[in-house]
Amino acid sequence: MSITYTWLGHGTYRLSIGGFSVIIDPYFTDNPAASTTVDQVSADFILVSHGHGDHVGDVESLAKRTGALVISNHEIASWFEAKGLKTHGQHIGGGHQHPFGHLKLTMAEHGSKLPDGSNGGNPAGLLIAAEGKKIYLACDTGLFGDMQLIGEEGLDLAVLPIGDNYTMGPEDALKAVKLLEPKHVVPVHYNTWDLIKQDAQAWAQQVEKHTKTKAHVLQPGGSLEV
Ligand code: NI
Ligand code: MN
Repeated sequence: MSITYTWLGHGTYRLSIGGFSVIIDPYFTDNPAASTTVDQVSADFILVSHGHGDHVGDVESLAKRTGALVISNHEIASWFEAKGLKTHGQHIGGGHQHPFGHLKLTMAEHGSKLPDGSNGGNPAGLLIAAEGKKIYLACDTGLFGDMQLIGEEGLDLAVLPIGDNYTMGPEDALKAVKLLEPKHVVPVHYNTWDLIKQDAQAWAQQVEKHTKTKAHVLQPGGSLEV
């Protein structure tokens, strides 16, 4: 039993879990790092971490074409429900068993205003338990000490931003790996624009020098099986 994580570019991912395609923060249109287009992606579920345009950009078109269920915090779920999408609202600290696995929303240190100025509630990270594996998608966040509590879950994979400026940079992301102690880590949310340009290979070397975690630098479109 395994889960395939695919980086679709920037902060957009796919988890293939059993027969389900779970898309996280679909942002393909205007995404310079997108490895595919919104017309080519299949989705059974769409998870949304927060309200910023580079995370919600293609939710509506993808959900309308595929009929996928949109799962997010209550505020964002309600905003999409008003647009006619099927939604499921949760909130920080709350878990729910979905057909693809168990999803808990975790805290994130970030903003969440929606593109039209609506209140997007609090930003979230995503903790997923499925196929006997645990995956933590930090999504957009700064470093916070409670990552240690998330690490106590026993993580097979952590997906962490390293771009700096909007989220953790490389040094704080290395501290995050030390708190989370995942078996594997993948860096994301970098090199999309010059403002968040980073040397991911150098970061991966630091991770493997200072922790027991295996770091995987993917290209957009690249996958890792856990
Ligand atoms: Ni953001
Ligand atoms: Mn972002």
